[in-house]
Amino acid sequence: MEKEKSMRIGIIGLGYVGLTLAVVAAAAGIDVYGIETNQYIKDCLKEDRAHFYEPGLDNLIKRNNGKTLHVVDRFPSDVAYDAFIITVGTPLKMVDGKKCEEPDFAYIKSALEGALKDIYDGSQLVVLRSTVSVGTTRDIVRPFLAKLCGKPEKDILVAMCPERTLEGKAVNELTNLPQIISGNNEESIRIAQELFRMITPCVIEAGSLEEAELIKLYCNTYRDMTFAIGNAFCMAAQEFGVDGSAVIAHANYGYERSNIAKPGFVAGPCLEKDAYILINNMPECDSRNLIVSARKFNESMDDLVVKWVREKIGEPSDDKIVALSGMAFKGQPETSDLRGSSSVYIAEKLKAVGYKMNLHDFVARPHEMQALGLGKVCGSLQEACADARLLLVLNNHKKYAEVMAFPELSCKTHPFEILDAWGACTELQYCDDIRISTLGNLFIRRKTENG
Ligand SMILES: NC(=O)c1ccc[n+]([C@@H]2O[C@H](COP(=O)([O-])OP(=O)(O)OC[C@H]3O[C@@H](n4cnc5c(N)ncnc54)[C@H](O)[C@@H]3O)[C@@H](O)[C@H]2O)c1
Repeated sequence: MEKEKSMRIGIIGLGYVGLTLAVVAAAAGIDVYGIETNQYIKDCLKEDRAHFYEPGLDNLIKRNNGKTLHVVDRFPSDVAYDAFIITVGTPLKMVDGKKCEEPDFAYIKSALEGALKDIYDGSQLVVLRSTVSVGTTRDIVRPFLAKLCGKPEKDILVAMCPERTLEGKAVNELTNLPQIISGNNEESIRIAQELFRMITPCVIEAGSLEEAELIKLYCNTYRDMTFAIGNAFCMAAQEFGVDGSAVIAHANYGYERSNIAKPGFVAGPCLEKDAYILINNMPECDSRNLIVSARKFNESMDDLVVKWVREKIGEPSDDKIVALSGMAFKGQPETSDLRGSSSVYIAEKLKAVGYKMNLHDFVARPHEMQALGLGKVCGSLQEACADARLLLVLNNHKKYAEVMAFPELSCKTHPFEILDAWGACTELQYCDDIRISTLGNLFIRRKTENG
């Protein structure tokens, strides 16, 4: 019996998105060649492991590395590739060491000009997987490829197939989530369909390259705006002396027409930037202000924490150490990712004011936290609290429910203030010596008659 035709693909960039896709595709029987510029990532892969924590990923790497998964310095020229997939980062531009609101597509250009230049001959599909502003595939990638292979733009095999997985669940979601595909022409769509059908049963064909770009941006901007409503409602409630978290919980309970988000920090490598990538090239559009103000409101939550610390312990001095726990950008599903984490931004702001800090996280890699240069990295929550004046619990890792038995915290300061930003410490053994605040009651000023 004739063996079912497999596919051969080249992936450019083995970061969070590229590596998970490469490994899941290799596990599905696709021959995958991956290239990556970062030596540390390549060194980890030589040891059969990922450079970040993602459930299930290391096992799949062990099983497929050197078989269907090939990490190479450059794409071998004797392979008949069906497709190349670009998964490089699309961060916000940095100006004077600060992030600005404009996306930086330099890595896409470097992927095209570096990795693809010598191997692409016009016969392979090029898939853009990175998150980009609307029009990037048609107006930047397509003309570049046309120039490279000498074909008219309409004949270029190019597809936009955005990544929508959740860090911490990526391996599972890659094989289960509907994959959005789109292409420059029928043949582009056919190859993209064939490729993603080998990974997942459900493939959705977007009507155009632009529609696929928008779908990705809408998914993340929708989440951003939804969380902004929760945060705005939470802070508004406190103006009236009402606990913001409680009013949201009660408004939602048993009333299916309300699904107001709980208050919380909204960041991470995608949510902190995708709204800006969406509005990047729609300067005249009336929707812009609404989208931007939601993003800005979420960003402003970091400043509230700094303000709260100042109110609680006053201006910084050498003996006023602030403990921060939950440095990764989220606790559930758990991740080691510190990129775009509000906890890191809060720590940077506290440092700028002059506070000393102890940093802790259950999953983030100590050497990565150390590299931030923001404070002492502690191996346990107890160690972080020991000489601290207060504790900020900044993500919702499940372990907070287990370890936050306060007598064990043995902190020296009494009463000890805790900001439990996510209501993560639900199983707390309450203790007279501990004062807990949440984002819902951070700044209640006016008291109601009921207290
Ligand atoms: N992280 C997520 O969960 C997620 C989810 C959905 C979409 N996205 C989008 O996917 C894209 C990639 O995100 P990421 O989190 O994987 O970023 P990342 O920074 O983790 O990975 C990108 C990798 O590409 C490598 N690289 C850059 N230029 C290269 C080149 N010319 N040749 C080879 N390697 C090169 C970098 O060294 C890096 O390791 C972004 O556009 C992001 O917005 C990310």
